[in-house]
Amino acid sequence: YPITAPDNISDCVAATVGVTDPENAVRGVACCPPSSQTTPAPYSLPDSTQLRVRPAAHRLTSDYIDKYRAAIAAMKALPDDDPRSWKQQGKIHCAYCNGAYSQEMNDHKELKLQVHNSSLFYPFHRWYLYFYERILGSLINDPTFALPYWNWDSPMGMLLPAMLETPVTDPSGKTERSDPKFNSLFDPYRNVAHLPPSILDLNYRGTESGAYCVDQISSNLSTMYTQMVSSATTRDAFFGTNPDPVTASTAGTIERGAHTAVHIWVGNPRMTNNEDLGNFYSAGYDPAFYLHHANVDRMWKVWKDLSPSTNKDPDNDDWNNASYVFYDENKNLVRVYNKDCVDINKMGYDYEDSRIPWIKSRP
Ligand code: C2O
Repeated sequence: YPITAPDNISDCVAATVGVTDPENAVRGVACCPPSSQTTPAPYSLPDSTQLRVRPAAHRLTSDYIDKYRAAIAAMKALPDDDPRSWKQQGKIHCAYCNGAYSQEMNDHKELKLQVHNSSLFYPFHRWYLYFYERILGSLINDPTFALPYWNWDSPMGMLLPAMLETPVTDPSGKTERSDPKFNSLFDPYRNVAHLPPSILDLNYRGTESGAYCVDQISSNLSTMYTQMVSSATTRDAFFGTNPDPVTASTAGTIERGAHTAVHIWVGNPRMTNNEDLGNFYSAGYDPAFYLHHANVDRMWKVWKDLSPSTNKDPDNDDWNNASYVFYDENKNLVRVYNKDCVDINKMGYDYEDSRIPWIKSRP
């Protein structure tokens, strides 16, 4: 049976699954969406005239950074109960990952909806970013606005994107790194030991590797090769397996590997729930999350392009018909399906090309 988000979103409860210390959950575990509308309408992809081309974060021009900051600032300025607001966008991740919904799976309504550790991982996050990007574009009246991607599979991208932390000059002339008022991309809940120039470790699980810069980079490239090529030779290996009410599903190579490593590496280990990126419930409140997931999403495209004759999208009824519910950029509640997100150009976006530096990095 396909996994289906509820027909009535007011069937949503507090999301505490996986939150070690809900008392000290600084972001809150009340993650249900506004229920001014409760019954989602079917969604059809609009005809797109111009593709949104997602650029690599480390190559952005300062004009692009300004535009992106302005869009996030506009999102943060919306009232909290607006479904397009920063707060509501952050809650989406919590609701779908920390047990706010039940699965509308035949006879298994006791199970919680969880979009991780299975083949729902890529499509759920693709749709999530799709609406997030369209909301940002509509808030700055730019229908071509495209979300940058954190190009962590490339040596130049193996640092936290600098724009997230760089000081912005406030109107009175003094600079404040640590004030989201001046840099909308700043987030107070990150591991300060991992700010630039610290090099990302794509195998990070909480312990510093201590490797020299060049060694860490080559280890990261081998990790990418393993997770994109040598261990990702089947659909199930790359995407993960379908959720199943009886047997546990498995996560795909990137989800389990580089994706999780980046989450843990960015989150603050001194907070009980490793906010923000280190816990599902809080991850969506850090702008880094969306940059990170844009690159995860790009890996889906890159994997298919590596070998179009063998690397194909999942194609079984349960996967095709699994669905989620989001508010779109016009505040309409809509239901979307996995089967409608396999072609990113039909969805109106693409990725700026970046070299694949790990393709010869067989360990
Ligand atoms: Cu929904 Cu990166 O996790």
